[in-house]
Amino acid sequence: MMTAILELRGVSRHFGGLRAVNDVTLSVPQGRIMGLIGPNGAGKTTLVNLITGMIKLSAGEMWFKGARIDGLAPHRISRLGIARTFQIVQPFPEMTALENVAAAAMFAGNIASQSEARDFAESQLERVGLLELRSTLASRLSLGQRKRLEFAKSLAMKPSILLLDEVNAGLHGGELAEAITLIRSLAQDGLTILIIEHLMKVVVSLCDDLAVLHHGELIANGPAQQVMGDEHVIKAYLGERYLKRQRAG
Ligand SMILES: Nc1ncnc2c1ncn2[C@@H]1O[C@H](COP(=O)(O)OP(=O)(O)O)[C@@H](O)[C@H]1O
Ligand SMILES: [Mg+2]
Repeated sequence: MMTAILELRGVSRHFGGLRAVNDVTLSVPQGRIMGLIGPNGAGKTTLVNLITGMIKLSAGEMWFKGARIDGLAPHRISRLGIARTFQIVQPFPEMTALENVAAAAMFAGNIASQSEARDFAESQLERVGLLELRSTLASRLSLGQRKRLEFAKSLAMKPSILLLDEVNAGLHGGELAEAITLIRSLAQDGLTILIIEHLMKVVVSLCDDLAVLHHGELIANGPAQQVMGDEHVIKAYLGERYLKRQRAG
């Protein structure tokens, strides 16, 4: 049987009368890439905010590596090994790439000294292909480079699961291909990845499993091929996107 690294049980988050996430029960298998897909406003980012402790649950439980994590502060959750990237990349603009990653490593709290943080940050920058730009101010980096910096910052937290919220948005061609290669290599190194992604070609090329949200509810979950053939998913999400493309083209 597959081991779940992260388990959500009946997780809900309501904003006033809006059920942004409604009774979601989901197991994220260890060491695989799970895609979290669904229309705009489906509750995907809210779910990531819940998992990372940035907002509180209205109901339900969350378990990570067998320990209950709902109710913990965000820094406690991140130190347990859950890291995220943001939909909008937000480095410290007036710090260099290296300083940004070193700051993340220090924040993670598992590093003894500033020099150790710098060494560790360099190895993370190398991993994402940014080592040569380590002394460049974050504000001077291109969008693709800032996204890779965001990866390096997340990796500096030494996570065992990485939550990627539309990390590829705005990337094209070579930059997108490089991002896909990077994500795949991280998974090959044993990192579990939960990725929110709109581009179906990226979803198809990366994801082992898929979870589909629609109006806050989990309408499908399982192996990617199976979920993409699911009638409800085609109706709620894939079909709509297909029709839009037909109209646009
Ligand atoms: N802090 C908030 N306060 C009120 N409504 C929110 C808040 N965050 C998200 N929502 C609403 O919850 C729903 C789900 O949003 P979100 O999780 O961002 O969707 P997705 O990421 O799938 O596009 C949307 O209707 C959104 O407007
Ligand atoms: Mg979102």
